[in-house]
This record gives sequence, structure tokens and C-alpha cells, in this order.
Amino acid sequence: ALVRHYKFNVVVKNATRLCSTKPIVTINGKFPGPTIYAREDDTVLIKVVNHVKYNVSIHWHGVRQLRTGWADGPAYITQCPIQPGQAYVYNFTLTGQRGTLWWHAHILWLRATLHGALVILPKLGVPYPFPKPNMEQVVILSEWWKSDTEAVINEALKSGLAPNVSDAHTINGHPGPVQGCKSQEGFKLDVQPGNTYLLRIINAALNEELFFKIAGHELTVVEVDAVYTKPFKTDTIVIAPGQTTNVLLTTKHSAGKYLVAASPFMDAPIAVDNNTATATLHYSGTLSSTLTTLTSIPPTNSTLLATTFTDSLRSLNSKKYPARVPLKIDHNLLFTVSLGINPCATCVNNSRVVADINNITFVMPKISLLQAHFFKIKGVFTDDFPGNPPVFYNFTGTQPSNLNTKNGTRLYRLAYNSTVQLVLQDTGMITPENHPIHLHGFNFFVVGRGQGNFNPTKDPKKFNLVDPVERNTVGVPSGGWTAIRFRADNPGVWFMHCHLEIHTTWGLKMAFIVDNGKGPNESLLPPPSDLPKC
Ligand code: C2O
Repeated sequence: ALVRHYKFNVVVKNATRLCSTKPIVTINGKFPGPTIYAREDDTVLIKVVNHVKYNVSIHWHGVRQLRTGWADGPAYITQCPIQPGQAYVYNFTLTGQRGTLWWHAHILWLRATLHGALVILPKLGVPYPFPKPNMEQVVILSEWWKSDTEAVINEALKSGLAPNVSDAHTINGHPGPVQGCKSQEGFKLDVQPGNTYLLRIINAALNEELFFKIAGHELTVVEVDAVYTKPFKTDTIVIAPGQTTNVLLTTKHSAGKYLVAASPFMDAPIAVDNNTATATLHYSGTLSSTLTTLTSIPPTNSTLLATTFTDSLRSLNSKKYPARVPLKIDHNLLFTVSLGINPCATCVNNSRVVADINNITFVMPKISLLQAHFFKIKGVFTDDFPGNPPVFYNFTGTQPSNLNTKNGTRLYRLAYNSTVQLVLQDTGMITPENHPIHLHGFNFFVVGRGQGNFNPTKDPKKFNLVDPVERNTVGVPSGGWTAIRFRADNPGVWFMHCHLEIHTTWGLKMAFIVDNGKGPNESLLPPPSDLPKC
């Protein structure tokens, strides 16, 4: 295994999209940011130098960070942010991981423009479990705001109302041709006929789940969240913020140009950015300007399409070689995830939208939780996060009258190597809405999902304990539930939150503490000497 060094300069750069130019925060002046390449088991050192006026921190989304929680990145969870003029070296090893992951800022809404791919190739000489592609391509889906995203969120927090939606979606940084905007080409992927391409698709958008499809071509899904899946064919993929999906694309035509589209998926009756980002697949040597368009863009509320896609995801395991799903459960947890309303004297309507897990709106601490845990600093958090909801909203019943949530910096404590079953239940106290929930520090098995209320006697009987998909970010369907299982084999403090940035901002987040084990390699390592101070 190699040690790879990268330098990330956080700098402001002007960018022009949708006919207007604005300064954006970037890494090394690039949007999307630079791709990090490594192989399984390599060690990566990334020196992040902050040259902007904002505090910054970078998260390596999906990297397990075994015993190196100090390099995980979420501000005030595992580190204090890197202040203007300061630097921090993220130092971690990609133990047993290969596939497509990504990195992004993990503070305020800087993720809007601070994100990029993290491509981990298999160990030298180890093949993919599918035919070797002729070429590989990173495809980053995101959103674009004409205004400054920090202003968008600050305005929303002041008013207590929902923030504006984005003004466009993007594919590798570009919305594609926009009416009334001259000379704005979209991303163009040049291909040769008769080849196979591995597309590493990442949803880096702040607030939008997306559909992705290519006119005239089928896609074969082979991996999600850097874990291989049983291959399956589809003409549309659905991908939530935080998730990654690898697909094989075979160029079965001899010539032509084909439209590539990323459009929103949202089955709740709330505002979304309805714009479709476009790119083109361009067979080389094709001079004609005819573009084969899509026969249809999925409507925003195509729940069935999304469900069918999600239900098709299976790990490579089989009855004979079942996945390593924990079978004996130490912590049987039920977390409701929802949006609520709290009083706010200074807000429009005298109330503000908040979000919660088990009725707790998470309050960010002033120093990092991991430091408080490691140095035993009192008064930063409590470890009494409830394992079950205090108010359970039954979908077939009436909405609870008290929608207020309680503020708190409460964590849930797990012994080293204990096993967890966590059922995430959407309660939708205001309105049901899907939530892509991301757990730091672990991959988990998605053993079940369903509509309506989780039934603790009937539903577990139907769990898939043989070949469940293994991932780090999973959708909790609108008005439904998802069940995951994992083993707490990584000591540290691990954030769990909705990857729709607005929901995280509103408080849909919590953290697990995993205590050290007694064995020689079962403790959190000490912090690096350049760990930023608050
Ligand atoms: Cu990709 Cu805590 O985030």
C-alpha cells in the first residue's frame, strides 16, 4: 500500500453559470473540486489550507476512519473547524475499502461548492467483479444557486421559513444549455462505439434527490456507496444526496449524440427545484448536430420508479455466503425522523421549522464532541439519547397536537463491538418527507424497508439477512421506515444525520459514542498535533 499526498488550498474563485458570475469557495480553484485517487489500503494525507474568510472542515464521506475519527471532518463533531489562515492535515487509511466515495465541506452550507470525488481502486492486480471497463468517468450531480448559499440559509434561519430552492441542477458543474443564456455548454462525454464505460455517479446536491438517465442507453448498476452489488439493468437510477452509484454503460450505437439528464425526485408536497440538468454523450466522429433526446423525464413524484430501483439493490452475497449481518442484537433502536415546529418570537409566523430525531432537535456544541469524549471534558454533551421515540405519530391516526421538539446535545453510547438494529421511521409531523440518513464511521446493512408504521412483531420476519445492500447513506421513504444493522467496531464519536442539508441545519442529526474496546487495536488513536483549536 502507498502513502499519497494531496494539497487542498481553499480559495475563492469567480464562476459563471445561468448567465451570471459570482465568487464561490473552491478547492484549488476547481468546481467540482479535484478527484482524489488511491487504492484499497493506501494511506492518504491531505493538507487543507484555509485562505478564505469562512471556517472550513472537510469530510471524507464513506471513509470508515477506523480509530482515526480525528480525520472524519464534521465541524464540532470530530474537530474544531480550520480557521482562516490555518491548516490541517487529514491523515487516514482506506482499510478494506474500494469504490467511489467523495469528499465535501462539513460546515454551514459550504458543501454547495466544496465537493469532489474520492476514487479508491482495488488493490494492484485485483480485478473488478465485472468485465473490465474500457474507460472510467466521474459524474458529479449537484445544484447551483444564483445567490450566495450562506445568505440563502442565514435568511431562512432568521425567518424560520424554508430556504429558497436552488436555481439549477448540474452535471459535473454545468446545468447544460439554459434558455436565454448564450455560450453555456453542458458537460460532454466523448465515447467510442462498442466500449464499456464505468460511470462513478455522486449526488453532491445539498437538498435534492435526483433521477439520472441517458437517452438510448441502459445502465448496469454494479456498486453503491463503495460496495459492490449484484449487477442489474435499469434505464433510470435514483440517487440521494450523499450516495454514490457506479454503473456500466455500453456504447451500443455507432454514432450520434444522446442526452444525459439529472432531474429531481421528491414525493412530498413541498417545493423543489424543477430544473433538469443536461449533458451529452457524444460518439466520437459524429459531426451531425441531431441530438437524441429522452422520451420522458421522470415526474418529480415518481415514487414507484424510485422504490423499484431501491428494491433491486442486493449485495454480492448468497445463501451459501451470507452477508456478515449481525444476527444477535444488543441495541434494538427505533428513531423517528421528522420535521416539527417550535415557537420563535423573532420569526415570521412566530414559529420556526425545526427537524428532529426522537423529538430531539440536536444543538451543535462549542467544541468538538470527539475532544470532549477523549479528554473527558464535562458539560459538552450528555449520553442519554433516547432509544425510542417519546411521541410516536401513527400514520393511520391523528397528528400529535404538540409538535414542539426539545433541544439537546444528546448522544447514544455503544460498547465496543456491540450490535445495533436501528429502525428509522419517518413521522412527518408537518408533512411526510423522505430523508437520506448518513452514518459516519460505518457501513450498515439495509435489512428492510416499508410503508406506514414499522411493525416490530411482523416486519423483522421479512428482513433480508442474506444479501442486503451495504451502504453509508440510506433513504427513509416518505411516511415509511428503513431498518439497518451494524456492529459498533469503530471507537469514536460518529455523526448521523439527514443528508438533505436543510434538514441537518434544522436539527435532524445526532451522534453515537463508541467506547474503546479492551484489545490492543480497539482504541481511538490520540489526536494529531495540528488538530484545529476552537
Ligand atoms: Cu456526507 Cu455528515 O456527511
